Amino acid sequence: MKIQNEADFQTVRARWGKRLLILGHYYVPDETIRLTDRQGDSLALSQIAAAEEDCEAIIFCGVHFMAETADILANSPEKIARRGGVRIPVLLAAQGAGCPMADMAELEEVEKFWQRLESIMEADALVVPVTYVNSSAAIKAFCGRHDGFVCTSSNAREILRRAFSQREKVLFLPDQYLGRNTALQLGVPEDQLVSRSASDEEFQNARVILWDGYCPVHEKMHPNVVCEVQKEHPEAKLIVHPECRSEVVAMSAAAGSTTFLIHEIERALPGEAFLMGTEARLVERLRNERTDLNIYHLGEPYFCDDMGKNTRDSLFLTLEQLDSGDLCRRVSVSDEICAPATIALRNMLDAT
Ligand code: 13P
Ligand code: SF4
Repeated sequence: MKIQNEADFQTVRARWGKRLLILGHYYVPDETIRLTDRQGDSLALSQIAAAEEDCEAIIFCGVHFMAETADILANSPEKIARRGGVRIPVLLAAQGAGCPMADMAELEEVEKFWQRLESIMEADALVVPVTYVNSSAAIKAFCGRHDGFVCTSSNAREILRRAFSQREKVLFLPDQYLGRNTALQLGVPEDQLVSRSASDEEFQNARVILWDGYCPVHEKMHPNVVCEVQKEHPEAKLIVHPECRSEVVAMSAAAGSTTFLIHEIERALPGEAFLMGTEARLVERLRNERTDLNIYHLGEPYFCDDMGKNTRDSLFLTLEQLDSGDLCRRVSVSDEICAPATIALRNMLDAT
């Protein structure tokens, strides 16, 4: 059946019932998020996919690495065995929606770098690789092969603590800012935080080696702009996502994941004011929901274009295709990558 409007969508949706689960990250447009069954930040969505037992298909409104993660977690070997060998399809609602930060760590380059570390020290005995969930399944598999971890912005501190309880050093991929901000919170001194372009001697003294990825949305929030906006709204509390630059996080009253920021707004008292350093679609939604607060962007509103590709029409088309048996939007991770990536994801989920 063709899905041309919301009524058509609801008809097909109702026919699928519990056989279908539609998930949405908080950054996707309002017109789409309100049609999803479950919403969340990266950690919550991973946990939902991992707990999922009943459905026959998942539609993911988000970006490619999220659909890959859902595919791995919803199709663990135990689940496939319980379903009699059936692997459920995970479809990404937005065609071509990637994450520029995830693309900044390529497997070949990471492996080459690991070899360099091995030529300097016993890398497998001394270094734990930790990757932010915003990375390809291949990078998660790399971490799993070296008994490392995945982390999200909600649990990065806990995961880094775990990693340090196992080995002396951490290689943090791909987000330099989340890695740096979290390590600083844990008291790692500046001179023990090094970039991947450091010298052999610096690697030997380092506690955390940072890849050089960044989120092009959060990175745009510059400390100079923060000062200007703070002058305009001195009463406002600055709350930011830890993908922001470290100088910005240092200026903030609080920093945390998307869920953390949402909770800050939910528990605010009428009349309070906030400067929010995060993706603009989320800021605007919160502003519309809490008209009794004063919520400001940190300078220009910066939108994630890839998340924006999850329009209502793209969701309609994905459901229409699924309903007709066309799985062209399926995101499927190969068995060779799934197995080691699961180790790194499990190491995270077991620790949180
Ligand atoms: P969280 O969902 O962990 O807050 O991360 C935000 C983000 O940038 C997702 O890509
Ligand atoms: Fe990637 Fe940044 Fe968009 Fe998140 S907001 S999907 S990190 S580009």
